[in-house]
Formats: sequence, C-alpha cells, structure tokens
Amino acid sequence: MNIPETSNHKIKSKILRILRQNPKAATEAFICKELQIDLEFARKQILELQEAGYEIQPAGNGFQLIHEPDNPYPWEFPGRESTIHYFKELSSTMDVAREMAGKGCPDFTVIISEFQRTGRGRLQRTWHSDAGGLYFTIVLRPRLAPIHSHRINFAASLFLAKVLQQMFHLDAKVKWPNDILVNNLKLSGMLSEMGVEADKLSYVNIGIGINVNNDPTGKEPNAVSLKKLLGTRIDRRKLLSSFLDRFQAAISGSLLENIIPQWKQYTMTIGRQVKIVTIKESYEGIARDVNENGALILEQKDGSLIEVIYGDCFHG
Ligand code: BTN
Repeated sequence: MNIPETSNHKIKSKILRILRQNPKAATEAFICKELQIDLEFARKQILELQEAGYEIQPAGNGFQLIHEPDNPYPWEFPGRESTIHYFKELSSTMDVAREMAGKGCPDFTVIISEFQRTGRGRLQRTWHSDAGGLYFTIVLRPRLAPIHSHRINFAASLFLAKVLQQMFHLDAKVKWPNDILVNNLKLSGMLSEMGVEADKLSYVNIGIGINVNNDPTGKEPNAVSLKKLLGTRIDRRKLLSSFLDRFQAAISGSLLENIIPQWKQYTMTIGRQVKIVTIKESYEGIARDVNENGALILEQKDGSLIEVIYGDCFHG
C-alpha cells in the first residue's frame, strides 16, 4: 500500500486560503512572507495544485485562482490534513482502512478514494463506485464494548441524514439499518467492519458511499444521486467536511448512549410492511421497532414478533 505523503498538505491548504482571500491575485512575495517559505518551494506547491486540477494562472507578480475542482484532497480539510488519506483509485477503501487500523493509525483516520475497483456493499454485494461519488472509510477507535459497536453505524446514518436535510433541504430518511433514502431511492449506503482484541474493540471501520455527482441508475435502478435530485453538481468537499465535523462531534460526546431513540426519529422503516433479506433467509411483516441492540422487531403475519439483527430491508 502506498500512502501519499502528507507533509505539504498544510502548506497547500494555506496557499489556497490566501488565493481565495485575494481573488484578483496574490503576489509571490506576499505568499512567501505569509507562509515563511521560499519562492522555489511556493512555486512547486502551486505547480502541484495545478496538476491536481486547480486552475491557477500567473497574474502580475503572483497568481490568481480561477477555478477549483471538488476533489476531497486532504488539504481541503484544514486541521485534518494528516489524518485524511486520499487515493485516485483503490480496490476498496475498506481494505486500506483495515490495513491502516492494524498498523495503529489514529482515531478518525479517513481513507478516501475517487474510484473503487471492487467497492463492497453489505451482504456480499458490489458497491458501484464510479467517479463523482464520495467513497470513504473512517477508522474509529471508540471506547465502547463490542456489543455496542452498532451505535457507530446508527450515529453515522443519523448524522448524514441530518446534514443532507440541513445542507440541501432534502427529505433524507434512514432505512434500517443504515441506508439513506430520498423519495424512496437510495442515496447512500454504509458498511462496517470491526477488530476485537482481548474482548475490547480495537477499531470500527465505517465505510460510506454517497451518490453525489455520479449517475448510479444504470447499475442500480433504485438509486439516486444528489446531482439528479438537486439538478446541479454538488461540491463534495463541503458535504464531506460538514459530515465529518458533525459525526466526530457526536461520537466524541455522550450522544452515542442515546443514539437509537434519536435515529428512530429519522427512520421511515418503523410501521412499514417490509421484507428482510439475510444471507440465508428472508422474512416479511410489519417493522414494529428497533431495539437498543439495533435489531429490527418484525411482526410476522401470524402475529409473532422476531428480532432481526442483520439484513437488508425492502419496504413494501
Ligand atoms: C451498502 O449499502 O450495501 C453498503 C455500501 C457501502 C459502500 C462504501 S463506499 C466506501 C466503502 N468502501 C467499500 O468498498 N464500501 C464502502
């Protein structure tokens, strides 16, 4: 695995801040003085930004930022530059996350890939990961008992739904266990893996796919993208930044203890006729509740209640 170097991300972040604050142009002398760097180094960083897709033109004795791409490069997340690892292409962000978690990477390390060759969905499905979407895995080291690890997934889906509602005024709802739907179409899915050592969680990796500017409908007719819903391209950096901030704040506080009742306010599953498909079996009935363990309580046709811990849910 080849982890891109991170040392100059902070400088790039600062150069971009100066260029944005000086839309007509920032002189080379000003950039070098502000950042305490020499001219050759400044020019090298600007060249690398240009190669990364930023349209930065010479202007007077300096540079002007004309256009920026929406790629979620580490330097686009000031304060997180050293914990975000960005790749153009991977097999799956889950693979790299597992390897990095095993090597001791810090809590809230984020692995992002523009494209995944073998993106994974739940229940051994493929997650189609064409360019334009957001595909990332967060390595978490929560102080939770393994039996409570599901709280992380419920928190991630709840806070992603909240961010989507607030940023775009979308009626984003959670479908059990952790899909985000808008107008009954799937906008986002989540997958998690955990590592346990001596009865303690050593990591929980939560992988999130969001259809943003990609068009998933050719391969997944029941899916939708933000671009389709909103009729315009969406800046993936802003969406990811809002989500990471909200989610991190939520899981570092005491919110996790009470996550299921909060999640229930954002779900569309409870009260619905559903079909639950697991790897081995399928069940039908009315979704009556989600219990403290994150299991779905299903009322079957004969009135009996069963608890389903893991599965895929189809609303009737
Ligand atoms: C599902 O709804 O079935 C879960 C989809 C999870 C997709 C994300 S994309 C980032 C991460 N890497 C993967 O290979 N899968 C998850």
